Amino acid sequence: MKRKVLIGLITLAVVLGAYPTIRHSRFGSCVAYAVGGFRNVSTERSSRFLGKVTEDAARCRGGEAAVAWRETPWLDWPMYWSAGGTDSRAAGWLSKLGFLSPNRRGINGALLDLEYQRIELLKFNLFDNSGTYENYLRDRESHAEKLIKIWPQFRLPQDNPAYAAVGAGSAQKCTGELVRFRTLTGICNDILNPLMGSVDQPFGRNVEFEATFPELSADEVVRNRHGDRLGLLKPDPQVISRKLFTRAQTAPANCPARQSREASPDANCDYQTASHVNVLAAFWIQFMTHDWFSHLEEGSNQPELIPMGCSVKPGEITAMGCRPEDRIDKALVAADGPTPSFVLGAQRRLSRAPKTTLNKVTAWWDASQIYGYDEISRRRVKRDPQDPAKLLLEANPISTPGQLGFLPLLQKSDPQNPQWTGQEAVAFPDNWNIGLSFFHNVFAREHNLFIEEFRRRSAAKPNEDSGLRNPAKPDRVIQYREISPDELFEIARLVISAEIAKIHTIEWTTQLLYNEPLYLAMNANWSGLLQKHPIAGAVLEQVVQRFAGADGKKSSDWYAAFAAGPGIFGLGNDRADISAGVNHFGSPFNFPEEFINAYRLHPMVPDVIEFRELQQDANAIRSKIPVVNTVRGKATDAMRQYGLANWALSMGRQRVGALTLHNHPLFLQNLDIPRLKSATGKIDVLALDIIRDRERGIPRYNEYRRQYGLKQLSSFDDFVDPRLAPNSPQRVVQQTVVAELREIYGQHKCAAAKIITTAQKNDDGSAINDCFGRANGSVVDNIEDVDAMVGWLAEFVRPHGFAISETQFQVFILNASRRLFSDRFLTSSFRPEFYSNLGVQWINDNGPDGKMMERGKPNGHEMEVSPLKRVLLRTIPELKAELDPVVNAFDPWARDRGEYYSLQWKPRRGAESDVSFGTK
Ligand code: HEM
Repeated sequence: MKRKVLIGLITLAVVLGAYPTIRHSRFGSCVAYAVGGFRNVSTERSSRFLGKVTEDAARCRGGEAAVAWRETPWLDWPMYWSAGGTDSRAAGWLSKLGFLSPNRRGINGALLDLEYQRIELLKFNLFDNSGTYENYLRDRESHAEKLIKIWPQFRLPQDNPAYAAVGAGSAQKCTGELVRFRTLTGICNDILNPLMGSVDQPFGRNVEFEATFPELSADEVVRNRHGDRLGLLKPDPQVISRKLFTRAQTAPANCPARQSREASPDANCDYQTASHVNVLAAFWIQFMTHDWFSHLEEGSNQPELIPMGCSVKPGEITAMGCRPEDRIDKALVAADGPTPSFVLGAQRRLSRAPKTTLNKVTAWWDASQIYGYDEISRRRVKRDPQDPAKLLLEANPISTPGQLGFLPLLQKSDPQNPQWTGQEAVAFPDNWNIGLSFFHNVFAREHNLFIEEFRRRSAAKPNEDSGLRNPAKPDRVIQYREISPDELFEIARLVISAEIAKIHTIEWTTQLLYNEPLYLAMNANWSGLLQKHPIAGAVLEQVVQRFAGADGKKSSDWYAAFAAGPGIFGLGNDRADISAGVNHFGSPFNFPEEFINAYRLHPMVPDVIEFRELQQDANAIRSKIPVVNTVRGKATDAMRQYGLANWALSMGRQRVGALTLHNHPLFLQNLDIPRLKSATGKIDVLALDIIRDRERGIPRYNEYRRQYGLKQLSSFDDFVDPRLAPNSPQRVVQQTVVAELREIYGQHKCAAAKIITTAQKNDDGSAINDCFGRANGSVVDNIEDVDAMVGWLAEFVRPHGFAISETQFQVFILNASRRLFSDRFLTSSFRPEFYSNLGVQWINDNGPDGKMMERGKPNGHEMEVSPLKRVLLRTIPELKAELDPVVNAFDPWARDRGEYYSLQWKPRRGAESDVSFGTK
């Protein structure tokens, strides 16, 4: 229909002889772009989309500013109409043209670009490390790829207790009790590949194996790219930390972060803030990462200690504050030694990365940080002896408010690392702090509230159908009264996990990436493409339909995959076959090492928490508490002393640290690690971030971008936002960073004969060489050597409302989708047979008492009261008045959300006297 209208318009224009004049107008560009049709999804890695559109498409979706932006290395869609704040919106009669209006063209264009990227990422960026890769590639080459497969690598080994139950021999299938609930170790989420996503499986990669471990200089392209400039401690990680990460202080004496000192109302540690995201969001994401991945086993690595850098002249040591005597335990490694390879066509390919590591927790979104991931962690999870379906919560000995109880402490008999002494007992206790204590207590309370509601319904109508079924006898109704405490515990685990996944997808992410395209995309991601969000659904469907071009069969497979999921309401998820709605896109699911790199979000953590008290004036900051005084056992004491409501209020109102250079918490540069027997007993966690990435072979920044289908940078100057006026203060700051990068990473004389990558080509089809188009022998920046984390923190250009960089975002597009698509309990098994009627209702309605709507239309949308807000209202009812005006629990609670995706730091009504609005 839209096509017909546009073809009608172009015919009219040509008939009127207007073509030459309109060709370069917005109208002409839209017509040319529409007639040109959608681009095909690339068949070659080297001719990917790269987030850059044609001149016509750019003009049609964002006018001349978007056309000019095409010259930059950054994504085009953030320049489209309506993809930013109010000033990105077209007003007047044009905005009333429905789907032809600039605003709709902008948003639809952005959604199209995002979907192209996601499809290409799924197509080009899956590299499994567990031995399936050769087969995957061979199937691709012979066009025999399937979205779902059975991999021998994911059969249970003979020593697994469920070995016999899945059929022992070669063809294994999970049935009966093994498929009813999330299993402790994560087996049998995929019924035909029981081991997938379970504890101790190798992390995958999102980049070609040949691009990993550049420090090994294993092939000519890598040597051309980096020369001999890289090493585990090259450039020096502590120097990077001190020169590029340290938060500058206007009054260092007032910042108590370096040593633990007592709270003081005068304490002040400067940090750059993201005004639309609060501190709860920082600890939320740490809480999530503990569910998804861990490289450490029970909080430890290998016994061997290694140096951490600071090889500088003695005078500089004092000036910089680094410590040459710091040591850290070496990272755990699974596979090492000669890397297996195979020949395909004319090329020899690696079968896995030169080294692999294991995910020491389950990769599923199964709340394993709360409920456990193996026998050891499960022993720390305490059940209530009065009702074993419940988690144990006990009265607070310090008797602050909070009728719903607090998590008990680890007991001497519990498996524990000595540095966890005095902490709450949870499955994943490492790097414990006040924020983790908060979320663990909240969701333990939520677990118990679910149990209580279930028991209420069961008591009222014990013979009623609970909705549950046993897959071994699917036709037999299970009544409420038949459900055992153990079964109810597992049902609650399913519900809490899905609730957490929903909060993360539609509440945390939409606040962290605060603009309209992402709001629509994330809601579509959760709700299924085609059902809940007609705009996003209709646009995205067009891309998906085009996937894989002429091959009708393959196209319909992919179409079915996208239509079926991700998202728990996707089409096809109601089929009788419970594995029907799951899709791994041909490669088994686990997180890639690059995902861990993209989640090194330590700058989000402030050095002091601005502590407030709910019973006093919430607008007043009563004290400044150093975060270092709230880590490990001290977190537990602080939680019990002040209670959940006060910590919620304090972290809910305070802005998070911006993810940028010169903004890492000072206390993390000086963190005591009691388990280490080194001279200092301390580490610089930020230097360790760099070291761990190198130990795990994360490609350096430019190759990382090329591998992920983004444009490369050709010098450090590319980091500077080209929209800034020549002498603006912001430009000066950015140019200072450029100079610092140049000082640390250096420059060299380039050699045009050296090809530095095979991941992409220049726009004219030629190979990318060491000179980036400059004359042979020119002095060029060592932009290729920049550590990935340093690079993405240096990105000053960001889409509107993005707390993260576009490079990290690319990692999230792929993996956030996959962890929904691949999980049976978030696709085909999201139904009452597994979750119970109450469970499904709880997740869909955000609680037991029906859907609730927010007042008005925030950012133009009718919105349900958000899922975390509902959880907080249930688990900390004292917060009711404070939460009433809050639309998203991760938006600073006293901020006025203003007009369309405003990022302003302005108080809402009633919070005018909040002192934090007096500061920048
Ligand atoms: C008080 C707050 C925090 C402390 C004390 C802390 C401490 C640490 C330490 C010591 C490590 C190094 C472990 C090792 O490799 O040996 C680490 C790793 C890490 N941290 Fe934090 N952290 C904090 C907050 C956060 C937050 C808010 C995030 C946000 C996502 C985060 C994400 C990570 C990630 C992704 C890793 C790598 C984990 C892995 O290798 O599997 N941390 N942290």
